[in-house]
Amino acid sequence: VEEALRWSKDSDGSAEGRNLDLDEASDAEASAAARPRVLLADGNADMRDYVARLLRRTYEVQAVADGEAALQAALADPPDLVVLDVVLRGRDGLALLKELRAAEATCLIPVILLSARAGEDAALEGLDAGADDYLVKPFSGKALLARVRSCLALAKLRKESADKLTEANKELEAFSYSVSHDLRAPLRAIDGFSKALLNDYGSRLDDQGRRYLERVRAGTQRMAQLIDDLLGLSRITRAPMTRDRVDVTTLSRKILAELASREPERRVETSVADGLVGDGDARLVTVLLDNLLGNAWKFTSKQPAARIEVKSELRDGQTAFVVSDNGAGFDLKYADKLFAPFQRLHAATEFQGTGIGLATVQRVITRHGGRIWADAAPNHGATFFFTLGEPT
Ligand SMILES: Nc1ncnc2c1ncn2[C@@H]1O[C@H](COP(=O)(O)OP(=O)(O)OP(=O)(O)O)[C@@H](O)[C@H]1O
Ligand SMILES: [Mg+2]
Repeated sequence: VEEALRWSKDSDGSAEGRNLDLDEASDAEASAAARPRVLLADGNADMRDYVARLLRRTYEVQAVADGEAALQAALADPPDLVVLDVVLRGRDGLALLKELRAAEATCLIPVILLSARAGEDAALEGLDAGADDYLVKPFSGKALLARVRSCLALAKLRKESADKLTEANKELEAFSYSVSHDLRAPLRAIDGFSKALLNDYGSRLDDQGRRYLERVRAGTQRMAQLIDDLLGLSRITRAPMTRDRVDVTTLSRKILAELASREPERRVETSVADGLVGDGDARLVTVLLDNLLGNAWKFTSKQPAARIEVKSELRDGQTAFVVSDNGAGFDLKYADKLFAPFQRLHAATEFQGTGIGLATVQRVITRHGGRIWADAAPNHGATFFFTLGEPT
């Protein structure tokens, strides 16, 4: 702060000030059409006023004194750029930066950190946490304006490509939805007519002919299942999402009880930790657990003393939920493949399935901003870990 004050005083009417006047003209000209909005958070009043004064020549500036006010302002009306002192009251600059990056409305906004020389390490840490640039006090007004300009230009590019990507994704989703939808009608015809053929003309066919027809029907039914699974997958991406407190313990116990009631002859030892609570969309988290527990149930079916466990662990300061079993397992070498649609590591003759479950799980996790990973070994069971991202 002392350093900043010194700089603040020194620069009044100095050569620096004059340079700025020259820059000012071009800055003002460039932005005459639309003035980008900058949110400035700095606890030191002199510094704040000085930086605000510099920026106001070109930008709409909202200046606040502490982290809490900055967060509220950014969330209420996301600015085009945030200039943030690393040391802030209420919520320090780095914590604020993380919150801005976690919230959907503010995650793409460029952030420039300001720090005193003594705080340079924190500013560097800020780059890791997603800041776009940083300046060490004392900095020249010219340097600040150049950084602001380049960050805004970059952000514009970033937004344009993000918009394009969103648009392309939407089109792709709509396309796969309509393709799968349209595939159903001819498939129903194939299935219906082969059934009619079998019923009405079956007696005129020999055994071989009937077997072929049965295989046609089995094929169409399998394809119908694939199409339904694809449609289900695209629904996961399209459905609106709301975050709530989700009781993972109760949900897991319910799903396991349902699985057990469908196969009462199976003996599976299940253990679900008490008090598991997630922050997510209840419907999507149910789909996720349905799939993970369904897999654990299925891939332990050849294990005489089957065991399934659900618990949580702290990983990098975040709750990771853990679903593990002692079933067939798989080779971790292929772990990255599992989450793509229709990828399976076990033969359908051994364990039935389409290979859409984990792709669905991955989408649910992505929508929550979380992460999923696995640990497994062939014949030694599989463990899936997942987080549900930061609450927004
Ligand atoms: N708990 C598990 N133990 C062993 N292998 C697993 C486990 N979970 C997933 N896998 C492997 O990952 C593959 C993909 O899983 P996924 O849930 O996507 O498909 P599936 O269960 O085969 O079919 P579906 O879920 O569509 O009915 C599985 O086929 C299996 O090879
Ligand atoms: Mg599955």
